[in-house]
Formats: sequence, C-alpha cells, structure tokens
Amino acid sequence: MSRVLKHEFDAVIVGSGGSGLYAALEASRVPGNRTAVVSKLLPIRSHTGAAQGGIGAALGNVEEDKPEWHAFDTVKGGDYLVDQQSAAILAEDAVQAVYDLENRGLPFSRTEDGRIDQRRFGGHTRNFGEAPVKRSCYAADRTGHMILQTLYQQCIKNDVSFFDEFHLVDVLLDGCKCTGIAALELATGAIHVFSAKAVLVATGGFGRMYRTTSNAYANTGDGPAVLARRGVPLEDMEFFQFHPTGIRGMGILITEGVRGEGGILRNGKGERFMEHYAPTLLDLAPRDMIARAIMTEIHSGRGVLGEPARDDYVYLDATHLGRDVLEKKLPDITDFCRTYLSLDPAEKPIPVQPTAHYAMGGIPTDLDGRVIADEKGNAYEGLYAVGECACVSVHGANRLGTNSLVDLIVYGRRAGRHMAEFVRQADPGVMPADASEVAKDILNRMSRKRRDGDAEKIRASMKAVMMDAVGIYRGGDKMSEAVQQLKSLRQQAAQIGVGDESRVYNTDLLELLELQNLLDLAFVTAASAENRKESRGAHAREDFPNRDDEKYLKHTLAWLDDESVRFAAKSVDLSIWEPKPREY
Ligand code: FUM
Repeated sequence: MSRVLKHEFDAVIVGSGGSGLYAALEASRVPGNRTAVVSKLLPIRSHTGAAQGGIGAALGNVEEDKPEWHAFDTVKGGDYLVDQQSAAILAEDAVQAVYDLENRGLPFSRTEDGRIDQRRFGGHTRNFGEAPVKRSCYAADRTGHMILQTLYQQCIKNDVSFFDEFHLVDVLLDGCKCTGIAALELATGAIHVFSAKAVLVATGGFGRMYRTTSNAYANTGDGPAVLARRGVPLEDMEFFQFHPTGIRGMGILITEGVRGEGGILRNGKGERFMEHYAPTLLDLAPRDMIARAIMTEIHSGRGVLGEPARDDYVYLDATHLGRDVLEKKLPDITDFCRTYLSLDPAEKPIPVQPTAHYAMGGIPTDLDGRVIADEKGNAYEGLYAVGECACVSVHGANRLGTNSLVDLIVYGRRAGRHMAEFVRQADPGVMPADASEVAKDILNRMSRKRRDGDAEKIRASMKAVMMDAVGIYRGGDKMSEAVQQLKSLRQQAAQIGVGDESRVYNTDLLELLELQNLLDLAFVTAASAENRKESRGAHAREDFPNRDDEKYLKHTLAWLDDESVRFAAKSVDLSIWEPKPREY
C-alpha cells in the first residue's frame, strides 16, 4: 500500500517554467509566506528553456519603438480576438519586466555600446504596421533557458520549497474555493496532498497531442485537463499555433530569430514565396500566415519534393547571413542543424515544415491570473493560472513570436503579486477531506493489470487525428469525425490499467495519466474548432474561409461534460482599437 503524505503551505505553484517561477518569486517575497513549487520536472528542464529567439519589449535600444505599437501589433496579430487591456498591460509592463530580469542577472546579448540588443520578429512593427521593428531582446538563441536559470536562482535565494518530479493528479476544490492539490511523487509512487490558501497552475502547453510538434515530451496539459475534469471551463481552445519552421520530419524548433536576422523562406524553385502572401512584412509576417503560405506552396506542388505530399517541405535560407552571425547570434540552431541534419546552415538551406507549437487557449483568467468560472467573469477563490496553460486573452487567435516569454514574465509577476496579497489576508488552509480519494483511485489504477487496449496505439491515433483534422487547415466534416474518434479513444483509454506494478519511477502509470490529459484536451480542442464556423488567426476553415465578426467576435468557453463539450460565449474587450481586416 502506497503512502499518503501531507504538507501545508500558503502558496503552492504547480509548474516550474518561467511563469511559475516568476509567480513563486513574487509570492515568496512576502515575509512569512510559505511558498512551494511542485513540478513534474527539474525546474531548469522546463519547456520555457526551449524558447529561443527572444522576449519582446519596446525598449527602443536599436530603433524607435513604443509600447503602444507593441500592444497594437499584438491585437492585430491575434486577429482582433485579443482582450485589448490585456495587450496594453503586456506591452507596457514588458519594458520594466525585461529590465528586472537584467537586474536579476540575465545575460542578454548586447549592442556595441553595452545596451540590451534587439532584433526583428514576425508581426512586430513600427508605427502601427509600417515596417518591421527590432523589438525582441535576446540572449543569443537561448533566451528562455537564461530566463529559467535567472528565476530559479532567485527562488532558491528566497527559500522557495521545491518538490521536483511530482506529477499533478488533482486540484482540490470546495465549490468555488481552492484548498490544495494532490500529486504523485515519481521517485517513490507516494501520493502527496498539499493544503494551501492559494494554488497557481502553470503547467505549460499541450502540443504533444499533435504528431509533429516543437513541444517537449512533458507538455501534456496536466493543469488544464485536471481543472476541466473538475468543472472549470477552458477558453478559446480552437486556436493552436503552428510555428512555420520546425526541422523537417522532427518538429524541432528553428527560431524565428533566423528570419529576424535576415533569413529567407524559399520554395522548391528557390523563390521567395512570401512576396506573394505578405508584401510588406515578407518572412516576418505573423506565424499563422506563414504556416498557411508554406502549406499552400506544398499543396500547389511548389515544395522541395514538388509533389503535394504530407512530408514535403520548404527551405529556410540563412546561408547569406555569414558564419559569424550564425555562431554568435544563433549558436543553438546552428548546432541543431549539425546534430540532427548533418548540415551547416552557413552553407546549405535548412529543410523546414510547420510544427505544432503553442496553445493560445487555456484556463480562463482575469488580469491578475485569477481563474474565471463562467461567462460573467465570476472568479474561483484562491485559484490562479498563468503562462501557456492559461488564457488571459492576450494572444487571441494567433500569438506573435516573443510574446509567450512576455506573457510568462508580465502575467507571472502580476498573478504572483495578487496571490501574495490574497494569502496574507486569507484564513488558514484546511487539509481537504476528500484528498485521499484521488490517491485511492491512483493506487487502484496501479494495481489493475493491463486490460484490452494499448496506450501507444491510442496515443498515435490521437496525434494523427489532431494533425489531419485539427491542424493548419480544417474542414467541418473531418472535424466532426475527429470529435467522434477522440470520444472513442477516450473511452478506450479509460479501460486501460497499468501493467507495471512497481512504485519507483513508474513511467507506465505516468504516461497513461498524461495520455488521458492529452485526450481530454484534444477532445475539447476539436469540439471547439468544429463549433467556430469562421476563419480567424490560426483557425483556418476551408468551409468557412472568412472572418465573421458579426457572429464570432467572441471568446469560446468550453466545459468538458463526460461525453460531450458544452459551450458559452464570453465577450472580447475591444476598448482601444476597432477590428479591421488584417493585411501585412
Ligand atoms: O521562434 C522562436 O524563437 C519562438 C519564439 C516564440 O514562440 O515566441
């Protein structure tokens, strides 16, 4: 019989990426606050570390820039589904957030005169769309990795308690009040129950539901899936971003920073095809447009293989940048090309294909990271979410490159501060009565032998269904079919037990728990995509090719009811700019 161990904290943060660590840093700054970070990984292995190209902030170090332009680009890039106050805060606070990171020791790349250097990124412009602007602050192509290192060191300094390699299995809710979490300790198989005055969920993305993805194996949406099963709605799940430049056949990210430094996309005939799709911004148009342009080139027989085949691709040409720029500003991707492709990007173009990269949707929150319970904006008490797993509606239908790191830092800090204040005033936490129920369920699962079904087959089917029906281009019939297939896959997965009976690092159990999380989120994503009968941002429907502001300028809230998904609409904050057609 496995043990159940109990802990008491004031603030518990689940997830140790950029947003979780920033929130922990803020929460732990209040004297006496007992703050814990519970994470499936060792913190510096979190997926924030894979963010390469930079963090956007209108410092104006290299070219004139203003937060107002950054906010506008964010709204337009998100195809006007962005909540505009969210974007205004993001752009305003980004500047101070970057200087805070610098003061905490982050080794940014520098200009000749010693200031933080900046480079171009997709969709970032000066003067409301006139031309690309250098806004991305970067540490070579290791920006996310440096952010993690910096924040982790600061958390250690603040005496944050870390519970590494603990997998979230439940968030404990008493009505609309959060009382703690339950987690599985991977090293021992023990169940740990954490009572807390406040819980912040920062478990990152869930790109592993797709066959080709830039996401780490750990990105299985544990936070949003657990909350969805607890009756919390999810917002705008239909919007999933494909990054245009993943390494062909592998999905590993080749940063947009390559194009920011002057790299060019070319089709099989060597043509710079973005001239036809985005005459002003060219290779620095927003990601949704470039991913669609690549697919259109491939479907028209202008990929490198020249046949509209699933594995066709285009080239990212960085040969003209010179070895010096590649080695100094893009050392990691230069290394990736050598390691994975046996190719020197200074000499040969890089074969690339779009790769599933980022979830715009997630757990709905207000501007302080408090989780929203319904379309009226009522909030849960003591429950927060931030980062990719959350949806503060700052990315709308398509996120701009670099804005994920900005989101982590700006909203991680805001949520952490709000949580710190909440915890200071809240009543002492109570050990939740039903906590051991979850533990029992896990233990039952562990002792059950594998029955009919095979987790690996179910996982492969889910990835194929999502890639083919809920990918870059989508159609109603295929999506309806996908919803039914995912429903059946969920039922099959529910029947599978765990073959491995050991307690220590039982990866069989972990992978099954993760698969169920992915399946639940894939089901909500596909159903939400089927439900939105228009095209907007990353949601491109062949049967409804136009944006329809009259019917669909609204957020989707989706509730996972056992066998179906229920929807409501939430209004979009349009308080600054009027929606316009998106041209680049
Ligand atoms: O292309 C990149 O470096 C990715 C950045 C991002 O997703 O923001």
